[in-house]
Amino acid sequence: MSTKITVLESRGVEYIDRVVQLSGWVRTRRDSKAGFSFVELNDGTSLGNIQIIVPQSLSNYDSVIKLVTPGASILVEGLVKKSPAQGQLTEVEASRIELIGESDSASYPLQKKGHSLEFLRSISHLRVRTNTFGAVARIRNTVSYSIHRFFQEHGFIYVHTPIITASDCEGAGQMFRVTSLDLSNLPKDDVGKIDYSKDFFGKSSYLTVSGQLNVESYCVGLGRVYTFGPTFRAENSNTSRHAAEFWMIEPEIAFCELSENMSWAEKFLKRLISDTLNERHEDIEFFNRTDSTLIETLNHVVESDFVRLSYTDAVSILEKCGKKFEFKVTWGIDLQSEHERFLTEEHFKSPVILYDYPRTIKPFYMRLNDDGKTVRAMDVLVPKVGEIIGGSEREYRLDLLEERMKEQKLEMEAYNWYADLRKYGSVPHSGFGLGLERALMFITGISNIRDVIPFPRTPGNCEF
Ligand code: 4AD
Ligand code: MG
Repeated sequence: MSTKITVLESRGVEYIDRVVQLSGWVRTRRDSKAGFSFVELNDGTSLGNIQIIVPQSLSNYDSVIKLVTPGASILVEGLVKKSPAQGQLTEVEASRIELIGESDSASYPLQKKGHSLEFLRSISHLRVRTNTFGAVARIRNTVSYSIHRFFQEHGFIYVHTPIITASDCEGAGQMFRVTSLDLSNLPKDDVGKIDYSKDFFGKSSYLTVSGQLNVESYCVGLGRVYTFGPTFRAENSNTSRHAAEFWMIEPEIAFCELSENMSWAEKFLKRLISDTLNERHEDIEFFNRTDSTLIETLNHVVESDFVRLSYTDAVSILEKCGKKFEFKVTWGIDLQSEHERFLTEEHFKSPVILYDYPRTIKPFYMRLNDDGKTVRAMDVLVPKVGEIIGGSEREYRLDLLEERMKEQKLEMEAYNWYADLRKYGSVPHSGFGLGLERALMFITGISNIRDVIPFPRTPGNCEF
């Protein structure tokens, strides 16, 4: 019996002169007049294919080879040899070939190279078989693993926060409702409003926009924690950076103030990038062919210190820079993507951490500064993507927290449990949220969020 190996393994020197078994999907086939067919085989383990040389002398050659078309799955047994061709170390000379699954060659959409990303989105169930989406999937996996390694190595406990919630963490009212009520026969109360006390949970419930509030509860008992899961936002902004379903990583650190929080965020982001550079070299090289400054930018980010700048200083830079923005800048506005990108791409040409934002534009849970006007918020901005991380030091003083909740007209009762955390051994604590897809956009240079998540969910789009 020959050893079963992967395409990745077959491309290295380890198996030279050994008979192996490989299976995968055909990328291309070329028949030469010299008595061979050349098949490019890929099984997802690496960007590059292995070239299989299929001699016409194989007994089933005539019956099988016609069906070895793009998309078909095959099994090959053969000898791994040093390749005389350029750009590949090895090739496999088949002594046996079997067709596992035919691919309808009249309709298979990935026969040719060079499809647009837009077209590939319309075949999201097949696009992972292209170089681009195979590479994205492998990098997404590597980044996810790196996230866990980073936190585990630093003693963080992984916490599973709920997907269904009754509270709006970010207070932005962008939540998807979860209900089991019969929409064509809704129960009504005395004044004709929908009676959610008859709903599944006995009250209104939603898909979570963030695991933060729950993870804070575990933080003030375990010290260092993180959550990493899907989050949902019903914001109707059809941009290339927003998805209705995305994955967020939220660490929460006890006895930690804002500047230490910034250091964690910076160290964390650098680690994800350097692990990917080290472990996904071939895939990153591939993206560097489209965006020739990618690797240079990533190396620069890993090696240099992030700029730290207060919101107030950022506003004065923006006011004085002489650039015409679509949205005018004055102290107190929520910075737009054009402002953020100017700071990180043009002014500093480096990642920037903005901090101390006006209290009026940030959620209730952020710690109020002594000036009474700003809160200890921080956003990490990176070139081309803009905001990649949002975080803050949390308000740990009960009276000030309650004041902020009233100011933002929150239903206090729903947050009683959260306020309790400030009654029993409250401590300064901080955390942040990294959008996994934003991180992947930055690392791969891919400019649309729809292309870094397997099956994107955006307004008007819930295919596959
Ligand atoms: O800045 P945000 O809204 O912060 C929070 O949710 C906090 N509770 C995090 C915390 O402190 N624990 O979101 C955090 C990050 C953003 O910086 C962005 O990267 C990403 O989540 N994000 C989105 N990514 C894709 N599509 C969307 N609609 C996103 N909204 C936020
Ligand atoms: Mg934010």
